[in-house]
Amino acid sequence: MKIAVVGKGGSGKTTTSAVLARGLARHGHRVVALDCDTNPNLGLSLGVGDRETQRLVTLREQVGESDTEHAVSWAEILDTYGTDAPDGVRLSVITRIENPEPG
Ligand SMILES: Nc1ncnc2c1ncn2[C@@H]1O[C@H](COP(=O)(O)OP(=O)(O)OP(=O)(O)O)[C@@H](O)[C@H]1O
Ligand SMILES: [Mg+2]
Repeated sequence: MKIAVVGKGGSGKTTTSAVLARGLARHGHRVVALDCDTNPNLGLSLGVGDRETQRLVTLREQVGESDTEHAVSWAEILDTYGTDAPDGVRLSVITRIENPEPG
């Protein structure tokens, strides 16, 4: 199941995303939370803290600014650019997925 949360500025996207992610994880689902926002602060709402949230944001900026080869698979994105959030959620801050694998 894939859930996208979109909406106007300040409408509650980040809060809703975090509550959904942690709620589903607590019910036993394997949850990957992807923050694609230009104002990426999902980490704060998920509970990974200020420093770790900023670390992921910086990683995304570095990939965007350099010739670094982008991650080629979901596993690599989550491994290299992800962090563990409370309740078992895996969080990554990304720009976009160019070649989504099925599922
Ligand atoms: N269901 C809700 N009831 C009341 N307040 C809420 C609710 N959801 C979010 N808020 C509050 O509204 C404000 C904006 O929420 P949030 O940051 O989640 O929105 P956003 O759409 O992600 O904003 P942005 O466009 O700046 O990224 C926050 O202060 C948040 O605590
Ligand atoms: Mg937001």
